[in-house]
Amino acid sequence: MHELTSQTNPQSHQYGRKIAPATHIFPEGQSFDTDFTAFDAISSYYDDVLATHPTRKAIIQAVGRRFGAFAPRALDVGAGTGFMLDTGMLAPALTTVVDPSRGMLNHLVVKHPKTARVLPGRWDQQTLHGTERGGFDLVSAVGGAPAFVGYEGLRELREMAKSGGMLLLENFLPDDAPAYLGADRSQLIEGLNGARVLKNEFRGLELVIEGRSLIIINGGN
Ligand SMILES: C[S@@+](CC[C@H](N)C(=O)[O-])C[C@H]1O[C@@H](n2cnc3c(N)ncnc32)[C@H](O)[C@@H]1O
Repeated sequence: MHELTSQTNPQSHQYGRKIAPATHIFPEGQSFDTDFTAFDAISSYYDDVLATHPTRKAIIQAVGRRFGAFAPRALDVGAGTGFMLDTGMLAPALTTVVDPSRGMLNHLVVKHPKTARVLPGRWDQQTLHGTERGGFDLVSAVGGAPAFVGYEGLRELREMAKSGGMLLLENFLPDDAPAYLGADRSQLIEGLNGARVLKNEFRGLELVIEGRSLIIINGGN
């Protein structure tokens, strides 16, 4: 069993209302950069907007097909208010989430107080790239999060999945990105191209375009 349990770090998941870990470990001069706060403003109504998005069902089906009744050890990057946990298919005690917006994470920890690890900050600021490479059954960046991670970040995400694990990316096509996403066109295109390049580089990845705005890459099977 891995380390993400209450036994190994009893304090790690005892979050109360509105007390997600602070996003304070930033490079010099960047502590209140918009990179870290852009989603704060919409966090209180994000779930209401998101609930109606048509691609959510396809994500749930893809994870269900891959893992069935067994919760994966999961890494969710750009986790936001916790959609992946909301699906009920991830076990909070087996899940690590990463997001730079404390506002978004606050909502996540209110809904999922037993989440094993809540890592505030951008994906490129995390240290688990090196230490936990190949350690996750499921690595996800959904709801347009790949647009913020960039191509190198996506490659690193792929490396975090176990051999036979699943990488799940949801990109929005540039013309279909929801306004709240706030990503510019070049970020959206880089996210899409990154997913396509990954598909060509890693054997066993499958690329699915669902409707007009979803790409899923399934690793393993
Ligand atoms: C549209 S939300 C998606 C949230 C969630 N994954 C979902 O599907 O509902 C995008 C999230 O990516 C986060 N984000 C932005 N830049 C990021 C980065 N560099 N690394 C990780 N997450 C980032 C934002 O703070 C935001 O919560």
